[in-house]
Amino acid sequence: MEKTLVIIKPGAIQRALIGEVIKRFEQKGLQVCGIKMLQLTDEILNDHYAHLADKPFFGRIKVAMKAIPVIVCCLAGKDAVEVVHHMAGATNGRKAAFGTIRGDLSMSVQWNIIHTSDTVETAKVELDRFFNPDEVFDYKLPNLEFIYSDEELD
Ligand code: PPS
Repeated sequence: MEKTLVIIKPGAIQRALIGEVIKRFEQKGLQVCGIKMLQLTDEILNDHYAHLADKPFFGRIKVAMKAIPVIVCCLAGKDAVEVVHHMAGATNGRKAAFGTIRGDLSMSVQWNIIHTSDTVETAKVELDRFFNPDEVFDYKLPNLEFIYSDEELD
């Protein structure tokens, strides 16, 4: 199954939304394959947000992401990268569609609840950044045949 990264950001943790966010992914049928809390540092954020280094908000996003520890999750499922990215919704919580995580839970660009990998290639890089191989677990969900058809599981 395809795997992707979700970071539950400090704002969501301050607002006691960890359970709400994880519940949505579990209810969708995605599988939690890895999960841990960690304190982000400038070193890892410079790497993770390298593509934003020339943006005016680069300093602010790093301060926000270091405010308190975050939770990183590895989620697995068919087309997991695309599904999870769509579930997050548009970057700006005020503009994100209702029904998406940001659309339902956020009023902000900075405090937009979660980060999700945007491509399969990025997901691989980002999962390697945050998880050691022995922190990601491949196990079979007992209800998999009721989440996907036989054809979808091939
Ligand atoms: S951009 O500018 O198109 O690259 O931005 P986008 O891809 O939509 O967002 C990339 C990440 O930058 C965060 N962001 C901001 N943080 C603080 N302030 C402002 N103004 C701002 N604009 C964008 C946004 O939340 C994205 O964070 P991640 O962690 O990738 O979701």
